[in-house]
Amino acid sequence: MAGPVPELHDRAVACADRLREADSVLLASHIDADGLTSAAVAASALERAEIRFDTVFSKQLDAEEVAAIAATDHETVLFTDFGSGQLDVIAEHEAAGDFTPVIADHHQPADVETEYHLNPLLFGLNGATELSGAGASYVLARALEAEDGDNRDLAALAVVGAVGDMQDSEGGLHGANEGIVAEGVAAGVLDPAKDLALYGRQTRPLPKLLEYASELRIPGVSNDQNGAIKFLSNLGLDLKEGGEWKRWVDLTQEERQTVVSALIKRAVTKGVPPERVNTLVGTTYSLVAEEVGTELRDVSEFSTLLNATARYDRADVGLAVCLGDRGEALDRARTLLRNHRRNLSEGLQWVKTEGVTVEDHVQWFDAGTRIRETIVGIIAGMAVGANGISRRKPILAFAEKNAEEVKVSARGSHFLTKQGLDLSVVMREASRSVGGDGGGHDVAAGATIPAGKQAEFVAEANRLVGEQLA
Ligand code: C5P
Ligand code: C5P
Ligand code: C5P
Ligand code: ZN
Repeated sequence: MAGPVPELHDRAVACADRLREADSVLLASHIDADGLTSAAVAASALERAEIRFDTVFSKQLDAEEVAAIAATDHETVLFTDFGSGQLDVIAEHEAAGDFTPVIADHHQPADVETEYHLNPLLFGLNGATELSGAGASYVLARALEAEDGDNRDLAALAVVGAVGDMQDSEGGLHGANEGIVAEGVAAGVLDPAKDLALYGRQTRPLPKLLEYASELRIPGVSNDQNGAIKFLSNLGLDLKEGGEWKRWVDLTQEERQTVVSALIKRAVTKGVPPERVNTLVGTTYSLVAEEVGTELRDVSEFSTLLNATARYDRADVGLAVCLGDRGEALDRARTLLRNHRRNLSEGLQWVKTEGVTVEDHVQWFDAGTRIRETIVGIIAGMAVGANGISRRKPILAFAEKNAEEVKVSARGSHFLTKQGLDLSVVMREASRSVGGDGGGHDVAAGATIPAGKQAEFVAEANRLVGEQLA
């Protein structure tokens, strides 16, 4: 019995044993899709193992947040989807006897060690591409298995977390994540398939699916309402029902094949490079227990629904949905989703209109108060590839946090990380050089800096990226 990720097995068992000994546990997690699913996986496993716990969420685990956690009367704290990057602060509290930390995370660790630290990066696995916070939590949950269940059903949530962190961005899930997918399939909760890799297969009417696709820009279809409708109307298929456009899930296999072939043909004819055209088809993941045509059926749409809650101070709503509430919580989440979509669309439009400032090695924009700091990273990622926003340089995005502080989000690509880019190092060092702090992954990272230090920060980040890519 080596668990879904053999490299992590022994450490997971040690963490699980420590949790079973705890009198009371505080479960602390991050406010995004991966953080919510991490918390849901951990909460389910703790509940089933009959370990008492409370749950809290935090936007950013800084010294102040850790101090607040230490002030609670729980003697054990389980951190999920964060904790590794703040291990220096956490270790001080551990040494002072405030609590025993158990950590299931995948972020770049600070330069300190602790006993119950479950992180793929400590075992030679890539934390940005192979295992998410929810994946690490799942490995822990499997080690925590109770007599009446082995927790393999939780693989569904672990995959939502991985895709929420965009670990499927190279055509599907890879590495350690594959072990989790296999268990989800065996448990009958997950259905991987080769399919069109565009966002919105479950819920978007076909023209919107094609028009809004930002993954691959197809001339005359993407970003072009009339173009998308004309393209679909000329396929010789019956794509409407009762006067309404069907969704991707409503199509037969043959119809899907026809649409995919025509899209590929259009892209090739319009000069889209073959390696980009290939990204049009990839592995998609459906949750077998969820209703077809809902946001919950597709892991990518599910993760957006979760971001729509937790990034707007309603992590409680997202957690309830993850834990199975299909009534009031799901209704509330859908309302929040409409708001989130509007914000994404308006924010993206603003960035496209204003454009980015291009330096030698990075490009950047400062949204001030126009984009909420909790979603500026998502928008930065979506903007890449639009007119004038290159895929060849990392993008830095600023948004105001409060009168004193500015949030920075950075996004790169796997093409750049293969050449040496590590944005977690860039964000940490550039932010510290101006009196802030940050971290994350090689391909996506973030920081908080004092207001007014943006120019100094850009100069330092530009220099560091230049060094990494030299
Ligand atoms: O908190 P953290 O791990 O959860 O978030 C990871 C972030 O990195 C997500 O916002 C995800 O969208 C982003 N990411 C990305 N491109 C990748 C991998 C992750 O933009 N290839
Ligand atoms: O919101 P989330 O980070 O889950 O979005 C992941 C990806 O899904 C985005 O980068 C974008 O390509 C796509 N998306 C979209 N339209 C939305 C939300 C997400 O195209 N309304
Ligand atoms: O907030 P954003 O989506 O840009 O975060 C990208 C990645 O950087 C996430 O994994 C997040 O946890 C990490 N991050 C961090 N320290 C910060 C801000 C973000 O480790 N101060
Ligand atoms: Zn994560």
